[in-house]
Amino acid sequence: MAQPQAGIIPEPNPFALFLILRVRDPAAGGPGVARAAARVPALVKRVGAIDARAKLVCTVSFGSKFWDAVSPGKRPADLRPFKAIEVSGRSAPSTGGDLLFHTNSKRHDLNLELAMRIRNLLGDRVDVMEEAHGFRYLDSRDLTGFIDGTENPKGRERARAALVGVEDPDFAGGSYVFTQRYVHNLKKWAFISQNEQEKLIGRRKPDSKELSGRAKPPTAHISRVVIEENGEELQIVRHSFPYGPTSESGLFFIAYSKRLDIPEKMLSRMMGTSGDGLHDHLMNYTEAVSGATFFAPSLHVLKMLGK
Ligand code: HEM
Repeated sequence: MAQPQAGIIPEPNPFALFLILRVRDPAAGGPGVARAAARVPALVKRVGAIDARAKLVCTVSFGSKFWDAVSPGKRPADLRPFKAIEVSGRSAPSTGGDLLFHTNSKRHDLNLELAMRIRNLLGDRVDVMEEAHGFRYLDSRDLTGFIDGTENPKGRERARAALVGVEDPDFAGGSYVFTQRYVHNLKKWAFISQNEQEKLIGRRKPDSKELSGRAKPPTAHISRVVIEENGEELQIVRHSFPYGPTSESGLFFIAYSKRLDIPEKMLSRMMGTSGDGLHDHLMNYTEAVSGATFFAPSLHVLKMLGK
């Protein structure tokens, strides 16, 4: 299989930087921007050499419209813009984006150094739509205090969940990306007991052990996102990180998947548009303020897009 970009399969290190850009004039400037984006793996090597132990990686992904501007006629089968959801006062807005640079390493300063160099490379051909600086919080907890990532695929399962395979051979080794920035209402969250919080997540707070049987409501987060199809559980590889100062903080959610309909189905069950009349009650304590879909091509296809 074509080689995937380096940041998708490995478990993440403690710092992440998410940069979502809009290309000002995709028709005229698109090919130049794609050439610059294709040079990012080489740039990562240079910046990463400052401290090899920091394990700097950066995954480059393209939004649906921008993909069409640089590669009309040859596109990943599932790539489409994220459709906003608005239901009973809950909303998952679609804010979009042409390029996503997802940087991860053991050093925040190296992530920032790389992001600044990427911005220099792209110059005024792009605008920043969204930027979040993520950090590992305590023992890999979300700011709600719950461990995030317990049931993330491990080992070989990660590539199986994240990477396109023979079903779309031109894009094998690539991955669909779904992002949402959530702003938590931590004041409201702190007001409820640990027992109530555990019923909202579906796991125990200290050790992430799953609540059993009746103790786990059908409206708990994990009850909504665990979906079985043809006897198999649908899987995504999450690389989400807490972000933000105390004035506005939450989770930058990001998932890599071999199919885009998998995170779409999970979100639909969370928001309450899947038809069973239920929604994820965790959503009463947090709000999505952005949402977008992208495709992270294999290293080979990324190089070809820059030709
Ligand atoms: C505010 C946003 C979110 C928060 C705070 C959050 C938090 C959590 C936590 C604490 C867990 C349990 C531990 C674990 O297995 O990782 C979890 C599991 C999970 N979440 Fe989320 N999550 C959020 C959004 C989402 C979204 C948008 C999706 C999908 C579109 C999603 C998909 C999943 C999946 C697939 C699991 C694993 C379930 C299992 O197999 O047990 N989450 N999340």
